Amino acid sequence: MKTTISVIKADVGSISGHLVAHPALLETCDEVLGKALEDGLLEDYYITRCGDDIDMIMTHRNGEENEEVHETAFNAFMKATELAKELKLYGAGQDLLSDTFSGNIKGMGPGVAEMEFKERPSDPVIVFCCDKTEPGAFNLPLYRLFADPFNTAGLTIDPSMHDGFKFEVFDVIEHRKVILSCPEESYDLLALLGSTGRYVIKRIFKKNGEIAASMSTERLNLMAGSYVGKDDPAAIVRAQSGFPSAGEVVEPFAFPHLVSGWMRGSHNGPLMPTAQYDANPIRFDGPPRVIGLGFSVADAKLGLPVDLFDDPAFDRTRQQASDIADYMRRHGPFEPHRLPSEEMEYTSLPGVLEKLESRFEKME
Ligand code: 13P
Ligand code: 13P
Ligand code: MG
Ligand code: MG
Ligand code: MG
Repeated sequence: MKTTISVIKADVGSISGHLVAHPALLETCDEVLGKALEDGLLEDYYITRCGDDIDMIMTHRNGEENEEVHETAFNAFMKATELAKELKLYGAGQDLLSDTFSGNIKGMGPGVAEMEFKERPSDPVIVFCCDKTEPGAFNLPLYRLFADPFNTAGLTIDPSMHDGFKFEVFDVIEHRKVILSCPEESYDLLALLGSTGRYVIKRIFKKNGEIAASMSTERLNLMAGSYVGKDDPAAIVRAQSGFPSAGEVVEPFAFPHLVSGWMRGSHNGPLMPTAQYDANPIRFDGPPRVIGLGFSVADAKLGLPVDLFDDPAFDRTRQQASDIADYMRRHGPFEPHRLPSEEMEYTSLPGVLEKLESRFEKME
């Protein structure tokens, strides 16, 4: 029997600006998911938040894109929105583009990362949740995690990882996707992934097809046609036994790389890894934040998570992120702190695109 993990997330309102989701909204989501657990739809769930985004981590036996699971998540966000309106929270219902569910939560505003797998004798799974950034924020750390031996020792010393991994990349502007294989095509992959606003990693697989990682890639601002907030992303990563170890999975986040988002979704800033209790992006509505939770999935139960960035070894990263935040802020309204008004065309990109033309496939 297979296990499915569905992470469905949305910002449906927060206290005093785009800062922190109200605890009562998380309680409302807890009531809805608690009922689904009682009814047997879910096997387990864990609700957390990163800044103003609520992340519902759910396990079940129903596979990806399950209508009932998606509808339950949507209903939880709808009920939380009602409360957010009553409490006059800021941005009540911000990420919900519709007030009626229609079969699949994709395209309705919330972000979705899902994977289905057969459990191993021990199955460590790590979930990352971000605020004040976009799905492309995962491009750099996930490339390093699954393709760079300077991050992931297992790529060179673990025979079960030595083959490398395959990356499924979405072109969120042209609505198409391509699969590239590493290490063989790492330069082509990097040529795409460097354009973080356009090419985003959707899934990563072992060469034998086993799922290794899955990301939410919704571009809410594109779906809605006008700006309705950045699409603060979430990711699910499997660890150990053929996958990177848990410590390798968090290692890329020790570098607080620059990501798009922050104030008004219009600024570049460092991605700061914090514990759940510090996921409060307040300075200039940021800087952008990532939390990580490690689970040992057992018979589709999540169990207790480890709060992965609750480790003083990441203090220096946080200090560095604060120093970078100072430096970037001093640019005020100037690029590259403020995002460019148009996407830049990179010199290597037209050639790579031409070469990959026949391998892109249409998406519905
Ligand atoms: P332990 O010896 O603490 O089990 O660690 C083994 C390991 O592989 C750490 O990466
Ligand atoms: P959120 O995408 O987290 O709602 O932030 C929007 C914003 O405008 C922050 O300044
Ligand atoms: Mg918000
Ligand atoms: Mg947010
Ligand atoms: Mg957002």
